[in-house]
Amino acid sequence: MPKIAVLPGDGIGQEIVPEAVKVLKAVLANSPEKFEFIEYWVGGTAIDKCGKALPEETLKGCEEADAVLLGAVGGPKWDHLPAGERPETAALLGLRKGLEFYANIRPVKMLSSLIDSSTLKKEVVENVDMVVIRELTGGVYFGEKKRIENPLSAYDMMSYSAPEIERIIRLAFEIAQDRRKKVCSVDKANVLETSRLWREIAIKVSKDYPEVELSHLYVDNAAMQLVRYPEQFDVIVTENMFGDILTDLASMLGGSIGMLSSASMNGKKGMYEPAHGSAPDIAGKNIANPLATILSAALMLRNTFGLDKEAQQIETAVVKVLDQGYRTADLTQPGDKCLGTKEMGDAVVAALG
Ligand code: IPM
Ligand code: MG
Repeated sequence: MPKIAVLPGDGIGQEIVPEAVKVLKAVLANSPEKFEFIEYWVGGTAIDKCGKALPEETLKGCEEADAVLLGAVGGPKWDHLPAGERPETAALLGLRKGLEFYANIRPVKMLSSLIDSSTLKKEVVENVDMVVIRELTGGVYFGEKKRIENPLSAYDMMSYSAPEIERIIRLAFEIAQDRRKKVCSVDKANVLETSRLWREIAIKVSKDYPEVELSHLYVDNAAMQLVRYPEQFDVIVTENMFGDILTDLASMLGGSIGMLSSASMNGKKGMYEPAHGSAPDIAGKNIANPLATILSAALMLRNTFGLDKEAQQIETAVVKVLDQGYRTADLTQPGDKCLGTKEMGDAVVAALG
């Protein structure tokens, strides 16, 4: 029986994950295989319940599952904790590293009904359709870090091994082969040694994919190009921290960060989560946008379970609901019909047909 580990986590995670589960159950209702959904504590919620952001039981449950559906972790209540115990580091980075989810895939596509929700001009965003592939288990996030008291200073080490770079670049080329066949590798090779190695490996790997065009951009220039002329991008591949920053920026090209889904992969196994955080300021109010999580659930069906038709059904339902003028608060323009989190989940289920 296929197993899905369900980790709502903190803040709006508690509200958006049930909506994605509801949509998954509806779309899988008639499937011959019975899916098992098993819920675990993670993040601040887990700290409150059992003293650890990533309890052993949760890690084991995720190891045993075929896929993980995660909401979000973190919040002001746990911000004072030492780095190694915080929900973001202990739970989220712990899961990424622990299950070696090295490839984070974040698709950014402007849906025509959301063009007016973007803060950018219609002409700039109307044809946006890209995938950002972010390396997720290396770089400065996981390098040695230290605080020195005298003289007061700190460091975080950025390092990459050649195999770590090669596997993510290769995945970018594989994905580009099924798309518009363009890979843009983003680095800071004018300054960083890790980036110079990154670029060398990108060039080497590109030789195996002669039909895919490879280009390179420095990360500062990439940030500028993303708002200047985003339709030039097909597949962007970049290291961990650059990818974190660029995907928040790129989310606005799709209307709202509340729309940005994300798949963190290790082969077929994946952890699926919205790219946004736990949004403590709006938690518990039934106003968060569940669509990024619902779209992440669609990625789960496609990437882990090979259920392309069901994934497509969810994506089509989301488009349909938006075309009908339904919006959550983050996307609302005058004249739109504003729905709460639960009601948006219900609308997607109804639109599944
Ligand atoms: C993301 C988030 C995380 C990250 C945070 C919550 C640690 O911003 O998934 O993009 O930096 O990777
Ligand atoms: Mg981020």
